[in-house]
Formats: sequence, C-alpha cells, structure tokens
Amino acid sequence: MTQFICSPGGRVSGSMRVPGDKSISHRSIILSSIAEGTSHISGFLTGEDSLNTISAFQQMGVPIERDQAQVKVCGVGLHGLTKPGSDLDMGNSGTAMRLLLGLLAGQAFDSRLIGDSSLSSRPMQRVIEPLQAMGATIDSEPGGRAPLAIKGGRGLSAIEYDMPVASAQVKSCLLLAGLYANGETVVREPAPTRDHSERMLRGFGCEVLSDGAKISIRGNQTLLAREIEVPADISSAAFLMVAASIAVYSEITLLHVGVNPTRTGVIDILKLMGADIERSNQCDIGGEPVADITVRSARLSGIDIPAELVPLAIDEFPVLFVAAACADGTTRLSGAEELRVKESDRIQVMADGLTLLGIDAQSQADGIVIQGGEPGGGVVESHGDHRIAMAFSVASLRASREIRINECTNVNTSFPGFVELAQQIGIRIIVDAG
Ligand code: S3P
Repeated sequence: MTQFICSPGGRVSGSMRVPGDKSISHRSIILSSIAEGTSHISGFLTGEDSLNTISAFQQMGVPIERDQAQVKVCGVGLHGLTKPGSDLDMGNSGTAMRLLLGLLAGQAFDSRLIGDSSLSSRPMQRVIEPLQAMGATIDSEPGGRAPLAIKGGRGLSAIEYDMPVASAQVKSCLLLAGLYANGETVVREPAPTRDHSERMLRGFGCEVLSDGAKISIRGNQTLLAREIEVPADISSAAFLMVAASIAVYSEITLLHVGVNPTRTGVIDILKLMGADIERSNQCDIGGEPVADITVRSARLSGIDIPAELVPLAIDEFPVLFVAAACADGTTRLSGAEELRVKESDRIQVMADGLTLLGIDAQSQADGIVIQGGEPGGGVVESHGDHRIAMAFSVASLRASREIRINECTNVNTSFPGFVELAQQIGIRIIVDAG
C-alpha cells in the first residue's frame, strides 16, 4: 500500500506547468476517434484515467499512437468503431464510463464497461435512465452500478431531458448519444457545468447550440479531425494554489492553466477567502481560455461558499477544505451532496481526516462546516481517492507534526509526477511504496 509521508512545515516557490486537463484529455480521444481524418493532440494527460480511454478506443479499432503527451489519433468516422474483443475497463474514471456509455449506446455492436471497486459503486442510473428513454438497452448491477452491458443496434431517438443533477458527465453522455440519434437531442442543466464537450464538438465542426441552460445537438453530423492542445489542469493546479496560499513566504506561478469560466470556481472561492491570486498572459487555445496564475501567501478567512460556485469548483473541494482548515474563522459549504458520490465520499472522508488532525470539521448531508485552526498530525485515510491524498499532502505545510496518508496509488490517475513536483516546490513529502 502506497503511503505518503509528509513532514510538517515548509514554504513553496517556483514556476511550473502541471499535467494536462483530465476532462479535456478524455474528450480529445473520444471525439478524434469518431472524427474523419487524423487528429494530433499535445499536452495530453498521461494519467491512468485518460490512458484507459486511449486503450478503450484502440480496442474498438482506432489506430492511436502516443509519445509521452503527444497523441496521434486516426479517426474512423462516426460509424467506424468496431466491437471490442473484451470488456472495456474504465479503471477509476467516472467521466470515461459515463461518456463512453452514451457513445456505446449508439453503436451497432454489444459492449460491456467495467471499472475498479470505487467506480463499481458509483451511481450510473443518472445516465442509464435518459439513455433508456432514447431507446438504449443497458443492463447494470442492482442500483444502476457497473459493470454495464450495452446492447448494440438499438437505433436511438432524440429526447428533451431536464437533468435533475448539475453534471457535465450526464450532459456530455447525452450529447454523444445524441450524435447517433434521429432528430435533435436537447439537454437542460439546472446550473452551469463544465462545457468542454460543447466547445470541442464545435472545434470538430459539429453544430451544438447553447441557449442559456439549454444545449442541443442534431444526430448524424460529421466530425472533422483537428489539432488539439490540452491546457494544464486547473484541478491539479488547485493543490498548488492552496499550497502557496497557506504556506508562509510562498509564491508560485502555474503556467498555461485552463481557465474556462465553468472551471474557475476554485479561484473565485480562494479570492473570497482573501487569497492573493493574479492571472496573466491570458489567451485562447482551440476554443479554451488559458492563463498563467501567480499565487502568493495570504491570510485566509472562512466564508460561506456561494451556492452558484459549487458546480464550478466541484473537484477542488478536498483542497479547499484544507484552505478552510488553515483560515481564520468558519467556512460553510452546502448544496454539495454530489461530493458524496465522487471517487470517495469526499464530505465524510475529508471531515474524518481533518478531525484526526485536530480540526473541528462537521459533516452535513450536503456539505461541511469547518472551523479554521492549526492542523496537528497523524495517519489519515485517503480511501484510494487521488484528490484526498493530494489535499492532505498540502495540509502538511501548516501541520505541527508529521502527516501520513494511506492508499495513495491513485494519485497517478490524474496527476502523474505529483510527488516529484511537490518536492521540487518545497512540500516535504516522501513515498513509502509499502
Ligand atoms: C467531469 C465532470 C465532473 C467532475 C469530474 C469530471 C467531466 O463530474 O467531477 O471529475 O469531465 O465531465 P460531474 O459532471 O458528474 O459533476
């Protein structure tokens, strides 16, 4: 079992580019695989989650070559995928499983999606149900859990769907299924969620209409190959933003970070807490805004996190809770029940870990209340959740004693090289591979 051992204290400094955006990396493989022609992707995330997506499309007959973060995909066209010889293993990735389910529902062949124990316990009914309404046949384990068996050749029909949860994964799943459906598929979201699918589909020449909360796509459109540059992942950069904010005498610059407005909730929340964050060199690459982000130490204060920022910072809460634990006063989060069905129950797992470190953290059904204080030390459980493991590594910068974090292998799913980069900037972390 891989354990991180973090010595207390330290300051962070440096200028670095974190690995590529996970959401954009998955989508770059999915869309270039069903496009006409050869796409070249740079800055691709070489984490386990996005590498599993490459393997899945290779199993469905798509020629894909990878040299580090450069990927060449020879698209087979909308109807060119072939039946995989075995189950498609999505590992730890909810995004890959939900997006592929939408795509596979529209194929002529049968397929089966599997995942690790965390993924096999996550809710899939939220995508199964609307896909069934489109005419898909999907068998799941009780409670709508993976493995998921998809019957091919079903002929999908477009639907209008009001999503009960604000989920970019559900939206993207239905847009992909919509490409294979007769008519115009319409999805309405209850709050804005990340819009990488819409932006990238447009980049591939596909017409996707966004009108406020309503997104629509016509079936049977042709996608045309393109170049894709994947920006650095703001969700990975978030760990370093909090590190530089809470550690003394610190300053770091994060280069070429994706700052799509549907992802920048973490910056807004940290700024409301008093963080010193500056953007520079903002530009647009292939339809996605990017910028360099400089963060300096600051005295943070607890806040009530505004409800509208919750979906825009959904993956960053573990490390935002660490910021709250080091802030003056109380931070309150509500309306975030989705955190309970991520790679782990992120409300409970963070509340347990912070409590173990001596912080007053009260979990609630849909959020948490954290009183800022001085983290102590001890052995915390990450429950195999990459973002929990990295969040507690960051907490060590303000801890009074050593923090050990259990089950850290999955950090490789989203942030390969995290430990080396953390060491390089000043976090006192070593790995015990068990
Ligand atoms: C993602 C959407 C989010 C996020 C996940 C990646 C995506 O999930 O938590 O890490 O790439 O679409 P939900 O949309 O289900 O909240």
